Amino acid sequence: MLFILSGCENNPAPFISEPTFEKNVKPIFHLRCTSCHGSRWQNYQTVIDSKDKIEYKVIKTRTMPPGGIPAYEYDLIKRWLEQGAK
Ligand code: HEC
Repeated sequence: MLFILSGCENNPAPFISEPTFEKNVKPIFHLRCTSCHGSRWQNYQTVIDSKDKIEYKVIKTRTMPPGGIPAYEYDLIKRWLEQGAK
């Protein structure tokens, strides 16, 4: 996954105020979910159809992915969901 560095050396992950699936969430799901779920969560419509389940597993209970992900990735996915999951 590629990040454009924000210039702040203490924080390698830039704050993305309006995350979108294609640009921001899909790369995370690709990196964190494909090893077990294959390409399932790479498809926007599939993800939207399972939005409540994903929110429950990834954000509410943090049981997916099983090993956990960095805090900024939880935060990004959470804000993406809150902002209407576009
Ligand atoms: C180490 C393997 C593994 C990884 C990585 C993983 N999952 Fe899962 N996931 C599973 C297994 C096994 C189940 C079925 C058991 C369960 O529901 O807890 C599951 C179930 C789920 C479910 C609920 C059942 C379903 O199929 O709809 C969702 C939603 C889900 N995963 C989303 C994700 C997302 C999103 C990611 C990446 C952020 C992810 N998972 C990463 C193994 C994994």
